[in-house]
Order: sequence, then C-alpha cells, then structure tokens
Amino acid sequence: MPELEPTPKFTTDQAIARLRQAAHAKAANFYAMYSSVLGGIVTDPALMVLPLDDHMVHRGHGVFDTAILANGMLYQLDPHLDRLLASAKMARISPPFPREQLRQIVIDAAAAGRRREASVRYWLSAGPGGFGLAPGECVGSSFYVIVFNAELYPDSYYTQGLKVVTSSVPIKPPFFARVKSTNYLPNVLVVLEAKDRGADNGIFIDERGMVAEGSNMNVAFVTRDGVLRHPRFDSILSGLTVQRVLQLARRLVEQGDLRDIRIADVPVEEARAAAEMMLTGSSIKIAPVVEWDGRPVGDGKPGPIAKKLLDLWREDVRQATDQLIPVPYPED
Ligand SMILES: Cc1ncc(COP(=O)(O)O)c(C=O)c1O
Repeated sequence: MPELEPTPKFTTDQAIARLRQAAHAKAANFYAMYSSVLGGIVTDPALMVLPLDDHMVHRGHGVFDTAILANGMLYQLDPHLDRLLASAKMARISPPFPREQLRQIVIDAAAAGRRREASVRYWLSAGPGGFGLAPGECVGSSFYVIVFNAELYPDSYYTQGLKVVTSSVPIKPPFFARVKSTNYLPNVLVVLEAKDRGADNGIFIDERGMVAEGSNMNVAFVTRDGVLRHPRFDSILSGLTVQRVLQLARRLVEQGDLRDIRIADVPVEEARAAAEMMLTGSSIKIAPVVEWDGRPVGDGKPGPIAKKLLDLWREDVRQATDQLIPVPYPED
C-alpha cells in the first residue's frame, strides 16, 4: 500500500485562506448570504458557511422557502414567508426574530446581492449548540438567507415538453409532505430515479392510487372536456406557484379556454386520460409534460393551456404590483 499523506492541520489564518481556495467556480452564482450566527450579510462565497453543530445540518431540523427576484422585485415574498413560518411551527422551531425582521433581512440580503434577477432562499433552523438529537441543547434558533442564480431548466422543457415517470420512491406521509423541511431525500431520489430511466422528473403516487406531486413541483392536468384538475393540498406541499396559477386560470375560464377548475383527488387512471399534464413550481414555472411512463400525454405535444398559464404567470411576475416588493439596491 502506498504511504498515505498525513491529513493537514491548519491555523485559523491558514484555514481562512483554504476556504477562499475551496470556493469553486460555481460559487460565482452566490451573490450574498445573511447568517444570524454572524449577525449580518457577507458577499464573499468563502464565508457563506454554516456551523456543523447547527441542528439543521446534522439532524435535518430546519425548514426553508424560496422567493424569486424578478426585474428587481421580490415576487410573492409575503406568502412565501407565511409558508416558512407555518413550516417552522410544524417543525417546532421558534424563529429568532419577529416576522417583520425576517422579512427585512431577506430584502436587505437581496439588495446586497445587487442582482435584479435571482433566487432568494432562506432557512429557519433549531440552531447550533451540540451534536445531540434534542434541540434543548441549541443556544438559539438560526436564520440564513442566500441570494443566488438558480440554474435554469432547458428551453426544451417549454418548447418540447418534459418526460416523467411514476416514482418508485415512497411518498412522504402527509404531515411531512406539508412541511417544507430540509429532509428532501425522497425528493432527490425521485429525480435521480427519473434520470436513470431517461426521464426528466418523477411523479409520486399515494397508496390510494391518487396523483400527488413531483420532486419539487406540483402537477396539474387538463381533462379532455376542458377542466383544470389539481390534487387536494392535504397530503402534498401547497405550492405557491400553483395557488397563483389556479387564480390566474379563472381568466381562462372567463375567456372560454377552460370549462372549469377542480381541486379534488386525481386518480391515476383519470390523470392518464388527460389532454394535458403540467408541472408547476417556483423553479420550473409552468412546464408541459408530453410523456408519462413512456406513453404520450394527450397528443404528445405541449398543450395550449400550459402555454397560456405560463404566459399569464410571466405577466404576473412583471406586473402584479400587489405581489411585488421593490428591492432598495445601493446607489453605486
Ligand atoms: C415537494 C414540493 N412540491 C411542490 C413545490 C412547488 O412549490 P412552489 O410553487 O411554492 O415552488 C415544491 C417547491 O418548493 C416542493 O418542494
């Protein structure tokens, strides 16, 4: 056996220098981070780190949410903060600051990132304090915010549509599906399985044979007689994109493009007979699905309703003043 290199031991200064060297090329996409442990914002990616003793890191006792920054405005920040706080309550995490302060920190971090188009993700955690299980040892809860450039999905998702497969990964029980916690192992596995099978994403089906959701996106259908269908929200994450899309879709009902909108269990057989299938979420927006388990959805082409909903949503992100919060960027 070749002689092994001894593991280096660093002084504080050496370690900080190594953190700088270790910042990989993709860290150029990380624009600003707030950490309640630091008590402020940093823009050097080398310093965008978390303490290992934070219970979110070693026990997954944390919750998160993401808002998008479009054209210098935070879109739907308030509903996203409400969902974060609802998740924190379910996870029994008391935020370190009142809601208004959390909100201001998110806005300040967005401004410090200096980008007009970005994603802003934030976490509430039980906080640091030790490596045990019970959070009683934590010195106080923590809050982290990152402003980053999310990798875009390929254009082909929107022009040609996606392929999905039914996931064999067990679905989260309803309580855990409704909390947006940092336990995303099933969600990661569903995507990996889909990629292994030559698809783009996977669909969770519950034990009753009802359609649930995708990896980090909701799934909706248009029936052959023009009804927009979405599963009930009691056993899945209540996606804010789809909630908004369901409101915007009322316009399509008024215009006669849709006959109705119905939120109720979606049995797999009904879903397979749909004219359209689409995925929705903050990251994917609204994207048509053209193939499910190797079989075409509808006529196997991106459907018109998914396209109309994407257009309405894009307009909303730019123009819905009641959903937009301006970011106070520094002058220079
Ligand atoms: C499991 C899951 N379902 C659905 C969604 C879609 O939610 P939203 O539209 O708020 O991004 C997400 C994304 O956060 C998710 O993680």
